[in-house]
Amino acid sequence: MNDDIRHNDRIISQFTRWAQPFADLPIHAEEDGMGRTLAAAAIGPADHVLDVACGPGIVACAAAAHAAHVTGIDLTPAMIEQARARQAAAGLANLDWRTGDATALPFADDSFDRVVTRYSFHHLREPGRALAEMRRVCRPGGRVVVIDATPAPECQAAYDRMETLRDPSHSSALTVEQLRGLGRAAALTELSVDSYRLEALLSTLADADDMAALDAMFDADIAEGKDRIGVQARRTADGIRFHFPISIVAWHR
Ligand SMILES: C[S@@+](CC[C@H](N)C(=O)[O-])C[C@H]1O[C@@H](n2cnc3c(N)ncnc32)[C@H](O)[C@@H]1O
Repeated sequence: MNDDIRHNDRIISQFTRWAQPFADLPIHAEEDGMGRTLAAAAIGPADHVLDVACGPGIVACAAAAHAAHVTGIDLTPAMIEQARARQAAAGLANLDWRTGDATALPFADDSFDRVVTRYSFHHLREPGRALAEMRRVCRPGGRVVVIDATPAPECQAAYDRMETLRDPSHSSALTVEQLRGLGRAAALTELSVDSYRLEALLSTLADADDMAALDAMFDADIAEGKDRIGVQARRTADGIRFHFPISIVAWHR
């Protein structure tokens, strides 16, 4: 079995287990981040939108309120089931769903006006390949938008260690400069860079095999008053809280 297949199997296994809890977590639909995401995508009523690695369809369903049509695609069938349920609950008609790989999108060139992906690039072994695919299926003059956690350069290695402990399907998080660099390499024209902090409670986001190692990593930062992971971890009455540093980069195709 080659490494790509093994990695995709890890993704499907992790996100099959996490499909329901991920879909139900309020932070994944929090308003500030979603508002910023929709502003960066600037979706109009005639637009056809693609949400890559759509998961349970949270961004896709929010975009559908502004678009002519939205397609969501994800590698994990259990996530697509959640997306269909979300669409039905919201009574939205203008969406469809596919299972498939972000690095080999099953769509013709220039098929969409807006192509977005949220919280997915850190799972990909080759995010540049996915961005090239997103560009290919976006029409000239359309927009490509990537939203993901972007640790500060000095925290990147520790952040990746923490995320790999929390979620074995984590690959590597890019810094915002690395993400912008991928855009240049894909011949996209940068339009905007925005950011927000996604506040999280560790216990709602992890069922790691090695919870002790994960806790110890956060505890070391908290006890020493350092922020090596770059997530401003703190202990509260209900457990360890921290934030994901999220960037939104939008490009013109
Ligand atoms: C953290 S979830 C984000 C879901 C959704 N985009 C959101 O923001 O709510 C990551 C998603 O990426 C999907 N994924 C990971 N690698 C993928 C790939 N190569 N192609 C398509 N989807 C992928 C997973 O199945 C999972 O649903």
